[in-house]
Amino acid sequence: MNANAQQVIDWNGDSGACWVAHQEQLDRMLEPYGLAALTKAAIRSGDHVLDIGCGAGESTLAIAGETGPSGRALGIDISEPLIRRACERVRDTMPQAEFRIADASTMTLPVAGFDCLFSRFGVMFFDDPVAAFAHMRSGLKPGGRLAFACWRGAGENDWATLPLRAIEGIVPSAPAASPTAPGPFSFGDPDRVRDILRDAGFDAVEIEPIDHSVVFGEGATGAEAVDDALDRAFAVGPLRRALAGQADLVVVKAAAAVHAAFTRKLVDNRVLIDGAGWIVSARNRAH
Ligand SMILES: C[S@@+](CC[C@H](N)C(=O)[O-])C[C@H]1O[C@@H](n2cnc3c(N)ncnc32)[C@H](O)[C@@H]1O
Repeated sequence: MNANAQQVIDWNGDSGACWVAHQEQLDRMLEPYGLAALTKAAIRSGDHVLDIGCGAGESTLAIAGETGPSGRALGIDISEPLIRRACERVRDTMPQAEFRIADASTMTLPVAGFDCLFSRFGVMFFDDPVAAFAHMRSGLKPGGRLAFACWRGAGENDWATLPLRAIEGIVPSAPAASPTAPGPFSFGDPDRVRDILRDAGFDAVEIEPIDHSVVFGEGATGAEAVDDALDRAFAVGPLRRALAGQADLVVVKAAAAVHAAFTRKLVDNRVLIDGAGWIVSARNRAH
């Protein structure tokens, strides 16, 4: 199997389709984390920036706003449906924003062409993270910057674990996946992230925690907000995987249990759940 083959299948299949369908809500959910990473990246006018795993392009468009027309914001992703959505969002007024379907770990990169490598939750999916980061670093100028947001462990992210706790006893629990297997929570251990980046040729690695509740559901009423949260939990995250292939009756019971759990998280017509991430930054060791 080629590197990252399973991710290519997932993000061009169900995962990609679900992200496109929920793009606006997911952008609102991830916004505080993306903004914190953007602040850390300290992008300047005229910078050339690679946005890794850019999805539907929200962060790339924000980066393009920072680089201005004299710079370049190149968003790349393995997902064809997400890049298609990103291209639909590019404004004529932002010629510096560009999108391309590519695997960040193998794509052709300009030698030392970028001032900054950036990502909002798009770098935790590589089969071989050291090789992937070493490859991406080859496209970075000497002393160039890396900044990204990633999740801490699943156990610290209630938005992921609350639905799973709610279905305990209803759905047989799946064998626990390795915490370092490619996936949203694979960068939960900061020592592992530091080792990956050092082995890939970065230095000045900084890893700072960010705690921010995520808006997991919203609506004109509390009932609408809970329905929205349920819809999202069935579309993205561990609940979707846990319920795959289960009998209809089990899914109905699970939905009722998750609905009750989300109702307990209602605040002003929004379902607010704890989220926990890292803001990671580093420099290209080659000076
Ligand atoms: C959790 S989503 C985040 C999307 C986007 N950055 C955002 O914040 O909305 C992860 C993204 O990483 C992409 N991805 C996973 N592996 C990749 C790889 N090897 N190269 C490029 N993109 C990848 C996926 O297709 C997906 O769009």
